[in-house]
Amino acid sequence: MMKRLALILVSVAAISLAAADEQTSPSGATLFQKHCGYCHLPGGTGTFMLERRLGKERALLAERRDLPQAYVEHVVRNGLQSMPALTRVEVTDSELTALASWLARNTPQ
Ligand code: HEC
Repeated sequence: MMKRLALILVSVAAISLAAADEQTSPSGATLFQKHCGYCHLPGGTGTFMLERRLGKERALLAERRDLPQAYVEHVVRNGLQSMPALTRVEVTDSELTALASWLARNTPQ
């Protein structure tokens, strides 16, 4: 319980720091935290489901090195198993491009 709380506090601190940094046009990292964070930060259901299906080292999207940008965009618009698709109202095309390219930053394209 305390561990989970600590993780949540760390996540909230990271989000506030990122937000303070990006007053004008939000970066991919900020957009990821805003739109995907409640499922894909530590403790989220996305993190939990990915750990169960793919293993611990692939559970956190922000640390992956095998996520091509086009794959991220496809999953977001179409959903994947227990992940719901997100519409253009929820995440605009330009927000999706920015956050997907940030997630793909460590992946050879
Ligand atoms: C409501 C919770 C939820 C939200 C919000 C959410 N996801 Fe997910 N996502 C999941 C779950 C759960 C899975 C695991 C699906 C499975 O394997 O059963 C997943 C899986 C994924 C995968 C597949 C990874 C792989 O290795 O196949 C990608 C990519 C992904 N999400 C990207 C995103 C992005 C980018 C966002 C934000 C725009 C986002 N998700 C928002 C719940 C969510």
